[in-house]
Parts: sequence; structure tokens; C-alpha cells
Amino acid sequence: MITFNFDSKIALVTGSSRGIGKAIAKALLEANCQVIGTYSRDEKSARLCRQDFEIYGNRFHLVKSDVSDREQAKALFAQAEAYFEKPISYLVNNAGILNQGDFLALTDEQWDNTFAVNLKGPFILSQELMKQTAHGAAIVNISSVGGQIGGNKAPDYAATKSALISLTRSIARLGADLNIRSNAVAPGWIATDIFDDDQLNALQQEASKAIPLKRMGTSEEVANAVLFLLSDTSSYITGHCINVNGGMYFG
Ligand SMILES: NC(=O)c1ccc[n+]([C@@H]2O[C@H](COP(=O)([O-])OP(=O)(O)OC[C@H]3O[C@@H](n4cnc5c(N)ncnc54)[C@H](OP(=O)(O)O)[C@@H]3O)[C@@H](O)[C@H]2O)c1
Repeated sequence: MITFNFDSKIALVTGSSRGIGKAIAKALLEANCQVIGTYSRDEKSARLCRQDFEIYGNRFHLVKSDVSDREQAKALFAQAEAYFEKPISYLVNNAGILNQGDFLALTDEQWDNTFAVNLKGPFILSQELMKQTAHGAAIVNISSVGGQIGGNKAPDYAATKSALISLTRSIARLGADLNIRSNAVAPGWIATDIFDDDQLNALQQEASKAIPLKRMGTSEEVANAVLFLLSDTSSYITGHCINVNGGMYFG
């Protein structure tokens, strides 16, 4: 088993108050990283997260900050540097929203909001990271199998996640001179609060029949791929997308 050691460097993990982002933050903290996490609205999850991560003391700092807002994003970098007295070395663009529904009822407002959070957020934060980085950093963007195969229940979401793979590759090219690596992880169906109970039950049943590994994935399984891509173990990998999907899509 590979054990990672991030040498007390600083990671920014967006949307780390619950679900996949929380598992990524926890795995990084266990691997000797210091983490600044974000959320935007759900105070209950934020409170629980702060409680659960009390054991990590001041190595974890959770901030209310909307990824789609340029000024809030800029402030995050300043806050991280003031809090940890070091710049951010790792960026995980994990925050994302999914609203499933009938395509014919999909509003312009929902379309714009999904793009603002899922795509503009990673753009802003990657750009801010590049502005502050003198040499060497790693970015991982959390895409989705929906971005690879399309999605009839949330085409806005699928479009953002496909574009996020493209952004990942553009940043890989743009960041290479600064030794900034940029990769993506495309999870399949992961059991988290992004789904309501009915959706989760339906996915669990379908997974046992339709997914080669016959189950939904866990947030920890996504976190394992993220840590690999952030670490020096993947030092010659950039512009890549790792599927964590139980075999539901191989491309
Ligand atoms: N679960 C899956 O099956 C699956 C599959 C493929 C990809 N993904 C992707 O994985 C990522 C995490 O998903 P999840 O399942 O863990 O979702 P989740 O349980 O709903 O968690 C989403 C996190 O993002 C935060 N967030 C949402 N909007 C934000 C904003 N504007 N600014 C900052 N933070 C924001 C949420 O906090 P607040 O609510 O407080 O803002 C929460 O911490 C998403 O990008 C999702 O698209 C998930």
C-alpha cells in the first residue's frame, strides 16, 4: 500500500463540508497535509465537519466561501496564507451541484448556476493558484462519468463536467512551465447527499445490475485517486482523467 506524506504543505479542497470533499480532506489530513476547506450554505454539515475534524487541531480550517465568486476566491488564498503562513500547493476543485429534472423544464437560471459553480469556480481558483505559484503545484478537478457519457436527467451538469475535463487539459498545458500539474478524476455513482433518498435507493438497485463491480462507490475510493494525482508519485502525469466508476465506462 502506498502511504503518502504531503510534508505539511497546504491544500485547498472546495466543498469539503460533506461527501467526497470531506473524504478527500480527511485523507489529506491523515497524509500530513494541512487543509483549507470550503462550503457555501449548509451550516449543519459545516458544524459536523468542524466537530469531526477537531482531532486535527489547527491543521484544518473550514471557510464559508462561494467558489463562483471571484472576490471570495481571492480572499481564500489570502486567508490560507495568513492562517498557515504558507501558500497553497494543492487545489482540489471538488465543489459541485446537481439538480436532476425534466430537460424541457430546465431553466436558463439553473443552467447558468450549474456552470457558475461547477465550471467557473474551477476556472477562477485555477487562475488564482497560477497567479500565486512560483514553481510547482498540483490541481485535481472532480469531473463525473456524466461528463463522459452525457446525462438525460441533468444535461447542464453533464456539460459542465465534460468541459471541466477540457479545462483540466488546458491548465495542464498552461501550467507546465511552472511545473503545475492538472488532472481530473471522474467518479461514477458515489453514495453521498448529492442524491436524495429515493434517488440513492434507485441508484443502489441499478448499480447491482448495471455496474461491472456491482455496487456504488465510496467517497474514500475517490479520495484515493485524488491523493495519488496530487502526490509526487504521479509526478509525470498531467492532463489525465482517472475513472473511479466500478467499470461503468472505460473511455
Ligand atoms: N456523488 C456522486 O455520485 C458523484 C459522481 C460524480 C461526480 N461527483 C462530483 O463530486 C463532487 C462532490 O460531490 P458530492 O457527491 O460529495 O456532493 P455533496 O455531498 O452535495 O457535497 C457538495 C459539497 O460542495 C459544496 N458546495 C456546493 N456549492 C458550492 C459553492 N457554490 N461554493 C462552495 N462550496 C459549494 C457543498 O456545501 P454547501 O452545500 O454548504 O455549499 C458540499 O460541501 C461534485 O463536484 C460532484 O459533481 C459526484
